[in-house]
Amino acid sequence: MTKKFYITTPIYYVNARPHIGHTYTTIACDAVARRQRMLGVDTWFLTGTDEHGQKIERAAQAAGKTPQQLTNEVSGEFRALWDRMGLTYDDFIRTTSDRHQRAVRELFCRIRDNGFIYKGHYTGQYCVSDELYVDSVGPGAPCPECGRPTETVKEENYFFKLSAFQDKLLKLYTEQPQWIRPETRRNEVMSFVRSGLRDLSISRSTFSWGIPVPDDPGHVIYVWLDALANYITAMGYGSPDPTDQQKFEKYWPADVQMIGKEIVRFHCVYWPAFLMAAGLPLPKGIVAHGWLLFEENKMSKSRGNIVRTETILEVLGADALRYFLLREIVFGQDGSFSFDALVQRYNADLANGLGNLASRTLTMITRYFRGEVPYPSAAVAHKPGDDAIAETARQTIADYNTLFDQYQFSRALETAWGLVAAVDKYIVENEPWALGEKQDEESRSRLATVLYTSAEALRIVTALAHPIIPQATTKIWAQLGLGDIKKVALQDLKWGQLQLGTKLGNVEAVFPRADKSAIERMQKMEEQGRSTPAAAPAAEIKPVAATAATTPAATAPAPPVAGGKISIDDFAKVELRVGQVKVAEKVKGADKLLRLEVDLGTEVRQVVAGIAEAYAPETLVGRKVVIVANLAPRKLRGLESNGMIVAATAEGGKPVLCSFLEDVPVGTRLK
Ligand code: MSP
Repeated sequence: MTKKFYITTPIYYVNARPHIGHTYTTIACDAVARRQRMLGVDTWFLTGTDEHGQKIERAAQAAGKTPQQLTNEVSGEFRALWDRMGLTYDDFIRTTSDRHQRAVRELFCRIRDNGFIYKGHYTGQYCVSDELYVDSVGPGAPCPECGRPTETVKEENYFFKLSAFQDKLLKLYTEQPQWIRPETRRNEVMSFVRSGLRDLSISRSTFSWGIPVPDDPGHVIYVWLDALANYITAMGYGSPDPTDQQKFEKYWPADVQMIGKEIVRFHCVYWPAFLMAAGLPLPKGIVAHGWLLFEENKMSKSRGNIVRTETILEVLGADALRYFLLREIVFGQDGSFSFDALVQRYNADLANGLGNLASRTLTMITRYFRGEVPYPSAAVAHKPGDDAIAETARQTIADYNTLFDQYQFSRALETAWGLVAAVDKYIVENEPWALGEKQDEESRSRLATVLYTSAEALRIVTALAHPIIPQATTKIWAQLGLGDIKKVALQDLKWGQLQLGTKLGNVEAVFPRADKSAIERMQKMEEQGRSTPAAAPAAEIKPVAATAATTPAATAPAPPVAGGKISIDDFAKVELRVGQVKVAEKVKGADKLLRLEVDLGTEVRQVVAGIAEAYAPETLVGRKVVIVANLAPRKLRGLESNGMIVAATAEGGKPVLCSFLEDVPVGTRLK
């Protein structure tokens, strides 16, 4: 029986457009899936979108769409992006699809029939953003996971007996230490489970955008139970069709489920417990990678600091992004993204590294041997340096395979590029261009050996790197005259397989060098992209006089024009931005003042605001506010205030902070 391999990405929420954070996980899975296929393994790669829940219901409302319209639109965007990048997913699951909904109901009934679901009452705080009940915080308090304000809910719910699985879970982590990787995540999960598991509420009755609970349609199934189930529903779980059943039997359990570190608890605690309760096999392992940071912050929609994948595709192409993400960031740890680093890595490793090795080797074979691979012939032309390259290549194959299979992409690539560097040095030392000018037999033999050795090393790096940079390696493979790289049996890759007389294809550069203008183009595209989204209607936003009392700098910002009106240009001088309160505290000796630290996406500002009589400081943390961002700084009670918070104050009333009904990224400009 052929070996099988089933790999999954998380399914992405459709309340945000796809960005390079999502792309990172999907690229990693794509690389693993491609490698498995090259190893002759029957591979299934699943991705998809997570489309239910209050967060999505609200996002749709805010966009003036039905939830189904929004989900169709954004799910389509994810799929189109993956297609544009040539990602090789075998199936794309949507949680609003019939096949998924039917199977989730089936799973719910199975867990209920097995005695692990009961009805009870819940009163407490709920975080809409994380779709999570939050224990041990009071009304209005921020969610400990994401810092956003929680909402108080009282509900009759279905509960899952998570508490019954504490020991079984601990046994799983102990008996299979590799089940959660990396180890740091495993330790966190173990201490969370050891500290005691409470039963989990798995239905909601306060909103309706979800899968109705079987026999009780006033409730919808908790979005995480719904979402996690995708990994089996896509495989045919719960389907009456025998073909689906065979598929499930064949591919489940998954061999690896890749996720970002923030959803470890859902995948390493809830998910195996749900499966245990349903009597289903567990996935063989969960691999959690770190966060992609932009200027030290996690890239996320709410921070407004995301980088769009399309920008990089347009300027440098998919291979550049794939290589950069998997080479630059140690898989499992957080890593920073920047356009400078991307271009630097691209030029050093791809344009000057592999690209240059390919073009100089293949061009010389074309020039000196009429485009046919020469054979390392007479013993007289042999030198120890040739054997050293062969030996390095053998070692590279072994090390690369081991590292890749442990998901250590960065180290695997480092090893392969070690071979590129060794061959570069070998070429410089042997000066084939000088040998090519001589006609004596010994020089010709020596030239043949040097170019064969270089081409063979190039072939090996190309085959190894194919899962990571599929487009360029497909071209290099064809230039080497070897046909379709997909047909390579990676498990048989050995030094010395390049055949004498192989006729090269057309030689052309695969990685043109990028210059500074590439960085500027990408930055510009991102700036344009960022200023467009989600600006609230300008008419609703006014810096109101009430706050002027707190920030004396707030003199009328725009001079009046005829009729007391101001022009649009005058209004444009006021830089209004969405900020998020990170810290709020009373100012000693000033009853009306609060000192706030407000995140504007690019910086955190101290602002002193006269809102202490209207707002308790703790209720402001996590809240999004509107800031006049270009006011000259002023000192109040010795504290520098760098901006003004926008609020409305009725005559003689308390200030009411300007806020949004829908989620708006931090830093967004109001205009
Ligand atoms: N819908 C849930 C997952 C359900 S899985 C049964 C969800 N969706 S999400 O849209 O928020 O996607 C989160 C995942 O996207 C992360 O776990 C990670 O795989 C990827 N990433 C999104 N932003 C990222 C970074 N800034 N950095 C690294 N990965 C990121 O959570």
